[in-house]
Amino acid sequence: MSKEIVVSGIRSTGYLHLGNYFGAMRNYVKMQDDYNCYFFVADYHSLTTHPDPKDLRANVYRVVAENVACGLDPDKVALYAQSDIPEIPELYLMLNMLAYKGELEKVPTFKDKVRLNPDNVNAGLLTYPVLMTADILIHKGKHVPVGKDQEQHVEMARNFAQRFNHRYGEVFPEPYPFNFGSTLVKVPSLDGNGKMSKSENLNATLFLADDDDTIRKKVMKTKTDSGPTESNSEMPEYIQNVFQLLRLVSTEATLQSFTNNYNDCTIRYGDLKKQLAEDMIAFIAPIREKAKAMQADESLIQKILKEGAAKARVSAAATIAEARKAIGINYY
Ligand code: TRP
Repeated sequence: MSKEIVVSGIRSTGYLHLGNYFGAMRNYVKMQDDYNCYFFVADYHSLTTHPDPKDLRANVYRVVAENVACGLDPDKVALYAQSDIPEIPELYLMLNMLAYKGELEKVPTFKDKVRLNPDNVNAGLLTYPVLMTADILIHKGKHVPVGKDQEQHVEMARNFAQRFNHRYGEVFPEPYPFNFGSTLVKVPSLDGNGKMSKSENLNATLFLADDDDTIRKKVMKTKTDSGPTESNSEMPEYIQNVFQLLRLVSTEATLQSFTNNYNDCTIRYGDLKKQLAEDMIAFIAPIREKAKAMQADESLIQKILKEGAAKARVSAAATIAEARKAIGINYY
């Protein structure tokens, strides 16, 4: 039986952090054996904010290097740049005729961007969900591993697929967000407020490109207190967060020993943070070094992108031919 199709796009802006690793990349790596995976750098999407051409290229290379460093295998999946697949903008154009201004203006991510950047409300921003739909449907993707913030976009993709099928005949399957269920883990921010994020407090987020000293400094600043005074007392949320971080990168024995220290009130958070910092370094440093080495080897990145695009174009060409025919664009 042929494998089911998975499609997901990776933003090319900003550095990847530990939250991205546990929320997205680790899951991509888990899927690569069981599904037919198309993972791409969403470089066209990033043009909505008009990045500097020099930065665009470096960002795309970095995203590829970081994903491969995290375990994504370009021989198992198609890893490519969105802009290398001309069938995507072609399908985007077709879908734009089925997408209505009113529904696009109601999308919460669009409304947020309008509020934040009222001077740059361009048509690309408005039709962002249509381009995303084209990304998915071009491979007839069924499963779309995305975070909560993107689920509404996938729902729109489902609506546009239905609309196309209704008008022109059954061409596209309906895509659904892929839920990792119990594997979804929280990666708390180091300041005790919410999750790690690339746009909020940068000092409370560990990036996969952070050097050892930076990791140590950030971890040592993690919010703690003077420790519990009664045995087996409940942990305040910011302490639960520190233990959650230990759970992600430390050994079971380390976690157990600090948990015991907490419960009998002998815990020293300075020691805990030192251990956490070293375990974070042991976790992040190999990924960082591998990504760094790859970024220095441009020909390797170029080879990955070229091979990924070649694989993706086979599937994209077949789909676009079908879509053209369904619409009636087959003149000779
Ligand atoms: N919009 C997604 C994000 O911001 C990235 C993305 C673009 C995407 N196209 C996609 C995700 C297609 C899944 C499928 O994270």
